[in-house]
Amino acid sequence: MKTIIEPFRIKSVEPIYFNSKEERIEFLKEAFYNPFLIRSKNVLIDLLTDSGTSAMSSEQWAGIMRGDESYAGSPSFFHFEETVRQITGMKFIIPTHQGRASEKILFSILGGKGKYFISNTLFDTTRANIEYSGAEGIDLLCAEGKKPTIPAPFKGNMDTEALKNIIKEKGAANIPLCLITVTNNSGGGQPVSMQNIKDVKKICVENNIPLFIDACRFAENCYFIKLREKGYADKSVFEIAKELFSYADGCTMSAKKDAFANIGGFLAVQNEELAQLCRNLLIITEGFPTYGGLAGRDLEAIAIGLKEVVDEHYLQYRIRSIEYLSNKLIDAGIPVIQPAGGHAVYIDAKQFLAHIPVTQYPGQALVCALYEEGGVRGVEIGSLMFGKYAEAGGLIPAQMELVRLAIPRRTYTQSHIDYVAEIIIEVFENRKSIVGLAITEEAPMLRHFTAKLKPIN
Ligand code: F0G
Repeated sequence: MKTIIEPFRIKSVEPIYFNSKEERIEFLKEAFYNPFLIRSKNVLIDLLTDSGTSAMSSEQWAGIMRGDESYAGSPSFFHFEETVRQITGMKFIIPTHQGRASEKILFSILGGKGKYFISNTLFDTTRANIEYSGAEGIDLLCAEGKKPTIPAPFKGNMDTEALKNIIKEKGAANIPLCLITVTNNSGGGQPVSMQNIKDVKKICVENNIPLFIDACRFAENCYFIKLREKGYADKSVFEIAKELFSYADGCTMSAKKDAFANIGGFLAVQNEELAQLCRNLLIITEGFPTYGGLAGRDLEAIAIGLKEVVDEHYLQYRIRSIEYLSNKLIDAGIPVIQPAGGHAVYIDAKQFLAHIPVTQYPGQALVCALYEEGGVRGVEIGSLMFGKYAEAGGLIPAQMELVRLAIPRRTYTQSHIDYVAEIIIEVFENRKSIVGLAITEEAPMLRHFTAKLKPIN
């Protein structure tokens, strides 16, 4: 098989600013060992997130120029609406400024004390919006999804037996909806199979519970279905996406991922009454229903991006480029979630830094080490992000201690990725010298964004 090449040429470039290890040690100290607090100019390869960091196409930039900025009824809105409807089949499409704005609106309406939202795995902002409403979020990831290094085709699936049990336990009337995240970001970017979505849908229908999709990375998920699920090899990703959404009663989406946009999102639903309630909230928080929280030019860029993302040459390159980095690490004996996910490589920091206890945040320690060694910025997805405190005060750790290296779409080349692999391997060889961290300051919610830490010597 020939090398799978980037399906684009580069027309415009941005410089990377180089710095020394000594400078990075200082930057890290100034950022209180939290890479969210490092200035991006001081980062060489930024794998903090694949969100809003994609390179837009020349067509999208042209769309930015064509965008119509009318307050009401802009043609850019209708282009956006039509494109979202073609893919999702949803009747009511509500633009928002990003994914979490859709979540805020949805859970403000459906949430509240005594309610439970069931998911394969809720993303951190989704969980935070649910909890902020007073409701509870429950993750029911399948058993294979919890075993980082054992490969399986659909490790993002929901555990359907556990779903049946939780419905019995909590009562269907207290579950306003089930939400399947595709791909499962917090669980390694792993896909969900069409069969699992159908099985969950059946249980939801039997119990009169609506099924929603967190659709941020729907195209990557659908490409995995095409590659791995029986009966889908000859279907187009567009057709697979249409089928996937046909089982849903609604979806939330951050267009900063699989729509190649730098900002934007939407909430889409089939139910008119719910749509009306959402639009009422939209007007007081985001904007008029034909622009939501966005400029007309953003709506245009999203519409174009959604058409580009289902291109299978692009998706083949995308999925392969993640696998390429993952394979290099596996060959060097580095523990990563297997198989590779759709948008990121996830290192198992618990194994990588086996000498650091979870109470000293091995994931965050590894994130800091990667930055210090090579200016590579990743993010901890472990107990700093998801840890809770027990009533007695001790840490209740997260299920896994991961470091995510998210690859922005169409942004870095193969040699950037080769460099990243070299840095990780170097850090792995010297891992014994890495120390754990202690939190010195933290916010009550989403603490990982702003927490301050210090090394434990
Ligand atoms: N759902 C999932 C699965 C996500 O990954 C994100 C964002 C959101 C919802 C919220 O969307 O950022 O537009 O408000 N994930 C980013 C990340 C931030 O780095 O994974 P948003």
